[in-house]
Amino acid sequence: MIQKPMVEGFLRQALPRLIADMAVVHLSALASLAAVVLWQRNEVNQQDTAALVGALRHYYQFTFLPLSILFPLIFATNGFYTRYRTYSGTYKWITLAKGTTIASLVFLFAAFLLSRAQSVPRSAILLFIPTVNAMVIGIRVVKAWLTDRKTVTTEAPPAVERRPILVVGGGGYIGSIICRKLLAQGKRVRLLDSFVYGQDAVHDLFSHPDFEVIQGDCRNIQSVVSAMQGVKSVIHLAAIVGDPACEQDRASALEINFAATRMMIEIAKGNGVERFLFASSCSVYGENEELVDEHSDTGPISLYAQTKVDSERALLSSKSSSFHPIILRLATVFGNSYRPRFDLVVNLLTAKALREGVITIYNGEQWRPFIHVTDVAEGFVRLLDAPLATVSGQIYNLGDSRLNFTLSQVAETIRTLVPGTRVEHVENPDRRNYRVCFDKIRNEVGFACEVGLEEGVADLKIALQTGRIPDYLDPLYHNQRFLKASGPLTSPAEIDAQVMAAFAMALSDPQPVSAGNARRQ
Ligand SMILES: NC(=O)c1ccc[n+]([C@@H]2O[C@H](COP(=O)([O-])OP(=O)(O)OC[C@H]3O[C@@H](n4cnc5c(N)ncnc54)[C@H](O)[C@@H]3O)[C@@H](O)[C@H]2O)c1
Repeated sequence: MIQKPMVEGFLRQALPRLIADMAVVHLSALASLAAVVLWQRNEVNQQDTAALVGALRHYYQFTFLPLSILFPLIFATNGFYTRYRTYSGTYKWITLAKGTTIASLVFLFAAFLLSRAQSVPRSAILLFIPTVNAMVIGIRVVKAWLTDRKTVTTEAPPAVERRPILVVGGGGYIGSIICRKLLAQGKRVRLLDSFVYGQDAVHDLFSHPDFEVIQGDCRNIQSVVSAMQGVKSVIHLAAIVGDPACEQDRASALEINFAATRMMIEIAKGNGVERFLFASSCSVYGENEELVDEHSDTGPISLYAQTKVDSERALLSSKSSSFHPIILRLATVFGNSYRPRFDLVVNLLTAKALREGVITIYNGEQWRPFIHVTDVAEGFVRLLDAPLATVSGQIYNLGDSRLNFTLSQVAETIRTLVPGTRVEHVENPDRRNYRVCFDKIRNEVGFACEVGLEEGVADLKIALQTGRIPDYLDPLYHNQRFLKASGPLTSPAEIDAQVMAAFAMALSDPQPVSAGNARRQ
């Protein structure tokens, strides 16, 4: 009894091939006969041509058609639909040529026996044998080529990099968006954060299979060592962020923003980390009337900016053939995030316009570069994958030249989107003024901002109006106020003061990098 799977196998695999071979045999016969007619048409008159066509048609119908069944039978006995498929290399093609030639000869012999009286011109036979050979082998060669190509593109995709990306300080305003972007790209993400402002921004990610959380302080050597294990790249965002917040707790700012960066560099190098992306700030340019770019002198006028300059230097001097630091100097960020911040100028002014109907602009003619928080995250993600030969050891201003605005222009945009807002202008001693050129990141990495000021303000307005952000004055959204309320971030039990003191030393002279180097505001 024939087994059911065998029948199914024949119907699914052998039958389509058999039908294709029959079609090829008939096409070859028709082509050979047609070629003979075309050839002889020039040599004989019309009547003879018509007679030839009639004879060939008769031959095809009454000799070729019934005897063509010999081809699949001989093909099958030569293993065309079974063992041939297991052969490889030239032997495969020799088997095919041999089987097809045998089938053609057997057919000719049978045809000779059957229709001796009306034999077909020899030229047709001479043409048929190579044609049927070429076509039977040809379709298999083409099929094998197509299958090979498919195998290369679908069955052997490039190996997906599964070493995690460590995001230090990824639980904050910017990091919570970066983590989501990386996960959406199918990357593994490890987060090291002490969650100064709580876990809410990333809590929903804790159950994600590619997300791993280490709650710890980046000043704690054990936490950093275990977080760096097996990591491919690091995105370092952890900091006390903003001038007022750093002034609130200068000792912690120095440790977290500078000493911990230096310690992390050493641990990253020891663990074979390839890329180390560092979140610096355009505030390193300080006070400058000119359009500044990555070659311009830095002139930090706050402890916060000074810690960024010093961390940049530490990173750039640590570059090696296997360790690639990349510095991103961020423009002033705006927009809503999973951890909203309202100590940023655009966000604060938008909230004030909506809630109080009046905004105060200090030194309205000062220039600032701006960038939406989702564009910041996109910039980091791009630089993780950008060619190392281009980006290793480089500083990039992260922003877009179209988003340099004076504070008065920002106020005007907000007034347009929140009609009825009253704008008050005040002068104060804050002299931060910088217009920044972002050509380098656009030209070398192809980065341009997607979100404009209007769009970001409009989105924030909706979040505030719909109650997604119930109270913009909540200290949780203001770094300095929060730190003032919570007290110093130094926990003697967790932080080795001597390790921090050692890493807090300036790079070239053994002086702590603190207040002396940074002018107070
Ligand atoms: N937001 C901006 O306008 C802006 C502009 C320029 C540069 N930056 C830089 O971007 C980075 C991220 O800024 P953000 O706006 O997301 O700030 P954020 O305050 O929202 O986030 C900082 C994160 O670091 C964590 N953190 C702080 N101290 C830590 C410690 N000791 N150990 C481990 N984690 C710690 C906090 O818990 C928080 O999750 C910072 O380095 C900041 O200097 C931000």
